Amino acid sequence: MAHYRSVGEIPPKRHTQFRAPDGALYSEELMGEEGFSSDSSLLYHRSVPSAMVDARNWQLPDLTTTPNHPLAPRHLTLHDLFGAAADTAAIDAVTGRRLVLGNGDVRISYVVAAAPSPLYRNAIGDECVFVEAGSGVVETVFGSLAYRSGDYVILPRATVHRWVPAELSRLYCIEGNCHIGPPKRYLSRFGQLLEHSPYCERDLHGPVGPLLAPDAAAGTDTEIYTKHRGNGPSGIVGSIVVSPHHPFDVVGWDGCLYPYTFNVSDFEPITGRVHQPPPVHQVFEGINFVICNFVPRKVDYHPLSIPVPYYHSNVDSDEIMFYVDGDYEARRGSGIGKGSISVHPGGHSHGPQTGAVEGAIGKDYFDELAVMVDTFRPLELGEGGVAVDDGKYAWSWAGRGPADTAADGPAADGDSGPLTIG
Ligand SMILES: [Fe+2]
Repeated sequence: MAHYRSVGEIPPKRHTQFRAPDGALYSEELMGEEGFSSDSSLLYHRSVPSAMVDARNWQLPDLTTTPNHPLAPRHLTLHDLFGAAADTAAIDAVTGRRLVLGNGDVRISYVVAAAPSPLYRNAIGDECVFVEAGSGVVETVFGSLAYRSGDYVILPRATVHRWVPAELSRLYCIEGNCHIGPPKRYLSRFGQLLEHSPYCERDLHGPVGPLLAPDAAAGTDTEIYTKHRGNGPSGIVGSIVVSPHHPFDVVGWDGCLYPYTFNVSDFEPITGRVHQPPPVHQVFEGINFVICNFVPRKVDYHPLSIPVPYYHSNVDSDEIMFYVDGDYEARRGSGIGKGSISVHPGGHSHGPQTGAVEGAIGKDYFDELAVMVDTFRPLELGEGGVAVDDGKYAWSWAGRGPADTAADGPAADGDSGPLTIG
């Protein structure tokens, strides 16, 4: 979804002759979702967009997953996935991703990138990349998008693009096997964001001009790393498709399908006298998952309110919280901090850590920033998730785990035995 935009040069009527100054016809391309039955844009290329001169295999990063078994809540320390800044100088935002969690609907990866990525097309689904920190530009066939800390960068399926960091960028990548957009309940029947939506069209930032590569018309073989459907354990494979020209050759486009950014600081939180449920924090949705964010806000103002959440059993979903900034009151004492992910799976009841409920009473403001993904099918751990699982978060409510017997009492250092996966 997005509202109508027009960028660069387009002809006054669609599907009619549109020529360059030298008389050559531009190639019109419709990029449309759900066949020809949903949002689309028309792009005008200097060259033929379907031209290719070679194709070869792209060995994708490890996409294997391990079941969360035995079932347990988990704490993943994302900042341990990548080393010092010097080690990340050659890592890019596409090929450097490490899979943290995934299922048949969505994959969550993390990367700390400093190098420009190759040109990339995700033909599996839309991407929603949250910029934990850093800045730069995402160059796309629709034009350039500047990005900064706190941005969600929404990239529709099959959009050719590349990431060009201006500084070290920490990116939390949510890849759907579907389209990702605002919840339907935020939209009018014609697609306008309604008054009760926590953001509106003014907060969405799309490309403002065409991006033409200098050699777009001259003809230079150009690789496009393409992620697409295929066989194998993950059902996802990669190919490097070689175009005889640079794909950034679009002189203009118009329509309702294009990449855009939305900064989390533009999300207007909805608060109440008593604790508000997670759906008020929702920002986007895909098929079988939702994305919510918890932003700095005034909290519950009933005289007897308890500002932290009540314990809740997510009967139909796994809940993945990425802690970006501030202090997260409900997790106080659990070891969770900036850069942490908590995994609260369906089948486990979770809520504030011991002492957090009493400690939160009387507070009127939470300075916290977190991004949550709820999935309606179980998530498994990717190789990155397994690598940074702290193995002891499950014991944080009880204060002891299996290494501490009743006779011994809790271990003196509070460090119970680790929980292994598989
Ligand atoms: Fe929760």
